[in-house]
Amino acid sequence: MTDSYLPRAEYDFSQGPLRSDNSDADPVRQFSLWYEKEAQSGEHDGNRMALATADTEGCPSVRMVLLKQFGATGFIFFTDYGSRKATELEQNPRAALLFHWPRLQRQVRIEGRVEKVSREMSEEYFSQRPRNSQVGAAVSQQSSPLCDRSIFEAQVSKMLEGDDPIPCPESWGGFCLVPDRFEFWQGQPGRIHNRVLYLSDSGAWQRSELQP
Ligand SMILES: Cc1cc2nc3c(=O)[nH]c(=O)nc-3n(C[C@H](O)[C@H](O)[C@H](O)COP(=O)(O)O)c2cc1C
Repeated sequence: MTDSYLPRAEYDFSQGPLRSDNSDADPVRQFSLWYEKEAQSGEHDGNRMALATADTEGCPSVRMVLLKQFGATGFIFFTDYGSRKATELEQNPRAALLFHWPRLQRQVRIEGRVEKVSREMSEEYFSQRPRNSQVGAAVSQQSSPLCDRSIFEAQVSKMLEGDDPIPCPESWGGFCLVPDRFEFWQGQPGRIHNRVLYLSDSGAWQRSELQP
């Protein structure tokens, strides 16, 4: 470790301000506007998000996952139902999502309740995945200890050899986060950033601003 601070990055805070009176009244539509803009910025990695969960003691854990669908019903990702994240969600079905889109100096935070998607939806999405991803999901008991990687890799190779369809494992599927809180952060010069907060109030969204 060095004694000096890490170097400062120079940011280009050239996006216009986001305020409670120029953002969309519906946070899902606001998310969609920003998501489209991020997708137009050239890279296709805007669906990467950090997913935070907590166990029954309130101890948090966080990891990246991919957003696969969003809309009025919620924000959907897929994973192994035996994984650490899924175990924590089983015990405490609240989670937080975080998107960081540095090219646009934007951050979006979303919080809410999480529920499993239907088995039909998980099977349908699984059937569209590339075969090697299906094999990975079928062989891996995500987040369990790996005793012998060579045995694991041999199982993967064996399953990859055949061309029998790979059924969606019972222990694999989607979760939908149903949001009750959004915060849109727009970077501005001099650290005078914009923060627009949406809180769900009996089904209606209330908009306000937070200090940067
Ligand atoms: C960019 C990125 C995207 C990822 N997407 C997923 C995903 O969609 N689903 C998933 O289960 N794991 C995904 N992972 C792996 C997770 O970050 C994590 O390692 C894994 O899900 C196990 O987490 P857990 O032990 O907390 O359950 C992704 C990792 C990265 C870096």
